[in-house]
Amino acid sequence: MAEQEVLYNGSSKVVFKGEGDTITIRFKDYISAFYGIKGARIENKATMNCRISSMVLGYLNDNGITTHFVAQTSDTEQCCRLVKHIPIEVIVRNVIAGSMARRLGMEDGIIPENTIFDLCLRDNELGDPLINDHHAVALGLVTYEELQHIYAVSSKVNALLTDLYARAGIKLVDFKIEFGRATDGSLVLADELTPDTCRLWDVATGERMDKDRFRRDLGRVRETYEEVAQRLANQLNK
Ligand code: TMP
Repeated sequence: MAEQEVLYNGSSKVVFKGEGDTITIRFKDYISAFYGIKGARIENKATMNCRISSMVLGYLNDNGITTHFVAQTSDTEQCCRLVKHIPIEVIVRNVIAGSMARRLGMEDGIIPENTIFDLCLRDNELGDPLINDHHAVALGLVTYEELQHIYAVSSKVNALLTDLYARAGIKLVDFKIEFGRATDGSLVLADELTPDTCRLWDVATGERMDKDRFRRDLGRVRETYEEVAQRLANQLNK
């Protein structure tokens, strides 16, 4: 088989050009944090994250969200639509944790009355700085109308995922998503949704079920990702 053109090669996945307007995303058995300062091989992570992201994006597709996901094509690979990525990370927070808690001197675990939406510029050299709507528009990344759509979709994704995870006994604390433009210019959710990109707390025990296990050296990273995959599969009859 001919070598596929690599479009992106990151620490946790590699993206190849596929047939027509498609790409292949291949997940890796690798986890990294703090901009690559900390990293480790985690056996079975590629399989778990591919499975989790495929289940979650498939569920969103089935519930009216336009995502780039087309199909899971092997244990560790997905076929997705080719889109032009917008370099903005949208972070949705239901519980105060992580960088917001640090930045504002708040305790982890406070539940705000409103849902919080952060925008970060995707730029490693600048440390993915927090930006606001006006910055995003001034940078020429999106229009105000597109931002309205992005917030509306992010809010709907939050409602759908909060419900799915609640049924699996997991509190969706926060998550990060990204968007891209399809060839017709329409906005498409184009990202992974895995325990690498979400904070997930076990409802019964409060235990972390996400990448914080690795960031904070809590152990049992592989087993926890497997548990998330199994609980989602039980809910989605997969
Ligand atoms: P934060 O607390 O570090 O801002 O992260 C909030 C959520 O967004 C958390 O679930 C991790 C996720 N996230 C990413 O997946 N990638 C990123 O680059 C950032 C900044 C956050």
